[in-house]
Amino acid sequence: MTIACCPGTYDPVTNGHLDIVARAAGVFDRVIVAVLLNPAKQPMFTVEERIAMLKEATADLPGVEVDTFSGLLVDFARARSVTAIVKGLRAVSDFDYELQMAQMNLRLSGIETMFMTTNPKWSYLSSSLVKDVARHGGDVGGLVPEVVLARLRERVGRGANG
Ligand code: PNS
Repeated sequence: MTIACCPGTYDPVTNGHLDIVARAAGVFDRVIVAVLLNPAKQPMFTVEERIAMLKEATADLPGVEVDTFSGLLVDFARARSVTAIVKGLRAVSDFDYELQMAQMNLRLSGIETMFMTTNPKWSYLSSSLVKDVARHGGDVGGLVPEVVLARLRERVGRGANG
């Protein structure tokens, strides 16, 4: 049984995240989407909201489950017998930090990190940009799943019209 872990803040989940999770589900027997509790940054959505959106958005993906973790990712990954941490790489700008984390996590636990190249369709996409565009009234339709679009509309008013 091979198990991938796709960790993140997911505030909120985007189509870029979902692309990586779906592709990981095609390679691994199971995928755990792991939402970090209490990130240093102030999230737009509570962890309950982020989990609800992720569960709905991944409902049709077999073998995918959503869970939360706090503390070190590698402690969670070890406890859940994770085979590999799976991340998406959008551009060179992601590389430095991701490399550091992958090497630190390997040193701490022996758990490998595997990178998937982000589909070019989503290479510019991030949760931060989605929130910024939505807050300022821009259209983020097509960039996030419908459930996120609806929640963004509730949160920022007309901004997330899509
Ligand atoms: O979606 P994000 O914010 O880019 O995800 C970052 C995340 C959650 C993967 C990273 O911050 C993380 O793993 N945090 C848990 C704490 C930890 O293990 N820190 C040491 C990393 S080497």
